[in-house]
Amino acid sequence: MIKYLGSKRTLVPLLGALVEASGATTALDLFTGTTRVAQAMKRGGKLVTALDSATYSKVFADTWITLDANAVDQRELTDALAHLESLPGEHGYFTQAFCLDARYFQPRNGERVDAIREAIASEYAGTWLEAPLLTSLILAADRVDSTTGVQMAYLKSWSWRSSKALELKDPGLIAGVGHALQGDALELTASLPAVDIAYLDPPYNQHRYFGNYHVWESLVRWDKPDTYGVANKRLDVRGDTHRSAFNSRKTMPAAIAKLLGDVNAETIVLSYNNESWLSREELIEMCRNRGHVEILDYEFKRYIGSQIGIYNRTGALVGQPGARRNFEHLLLAGPKRTLSRMIEATEHTEVRVEGEA
Ligand SMILES: C[S@@+](CC[C@H](N)C(=O)[O-])C[C@H]1O[C@@H](n2cnc3c(N)ncnc32)[C@H](O)[C@@H]1O
Repeated sequence: MIKYLGSKRTLVPLLGALVEASGATTALDLFTGTTRVAQAMKRGGKLVTALDSATYSKVFADTWITLDANAVDQRELTDALAHLESLPGEHGYFTQAFCLDARYFQPRNGERVDAIREAIASEYAGTWLEAPLLTSLILAADRVDSTTGVQMAYLKSWSWRSSKALELKDPGLIAGVGHALQGDALELTASLPAVDIAYLDPPYNQHRYFGNYHVWESLVRWDKPDTYGVANKRLDVRGDTHRSAFNSRKTMPAAIAKLLGDVNAETIVLSYNNESWLSREELIEMCRNRGHVEILDYEFKRYIGSQIGIYNRTGALVGQPGARRNFEHLLLAGPKRTLSRMIEATEHTEVRVEGEA
């Protein structure tokens, strides 16, 4: 899985247990990101719909949520990965933009990314293999990157992992069926079919995922856009097209209220943390008409980039180290009996307290 801001790695066992205890058979993961929560739901036998605005997230969901491991020919994927792995590197857009103009990856790995991405475009576009091959490529590149987990800057000297050779691995498909959607949750949620349980994990602050993960966006879209600044972000990061209502203090409260009104689910689980612009009381109030409300609280270390500060190519500090601890909260709303079963399940599930990029 990629390093991802706000990813719920440590909470996945708990979220899986909550969904299981709710008795749900259908589930919605809005703001699915890495899809790790949706994957846990699918592994638990639920019919899952995963939604996010990011193009790379749609590729992850197409791989892990839509594809059914039992319905595809695994050998075709193994052969395609072996073929791509054998290609010699070639200098192209990715190497120039992200290894030379900016330094997110070492050039010899960047040249392999270029060669593999061009081959996916020319040999596998439109086939069932396209999504798992792209997922494998993103995961491989993430394992050899030179960042702290976000792509708004890269480390001033190469990270230790960036010297390793890029290696494509099988992403590991999951048995079962599911649905993947890309778009704005605010526009799509009201039109989605009813589900038993919905997990809502919107962004917490002003940092936009489109800018923080612009390299993955460009790698998946393969539209080779012009870039700007030291971080070499896509030009459209600057515009308004990819702004999310959840990234602004002004628009976020109304956006959450609309979402809570629109989501057609018997039970909801909403993630938020102590950086959220809405207070606990405000969130509880917004959930009142959804039934009974409960809150679970957990304390975590912050992601590593926030602890050490973030530097650009010249060694200048471009991101300040922040406070070291944050608090994650899960707000549950729905029928009282369902929530009682869910709360009971948390008493048997351990949550590890550790950092997560
Ligand atoms: C906190 S992250 C979710 C992390 C995810 N639960 C995980 O474990 O990987 C928030 C996600 O919301 C997505 N997002 C931001 N604004 C959105 C919007 N308006 N509609 C849908 N997705 C949005 C971002 O692309 C990002 O993946």
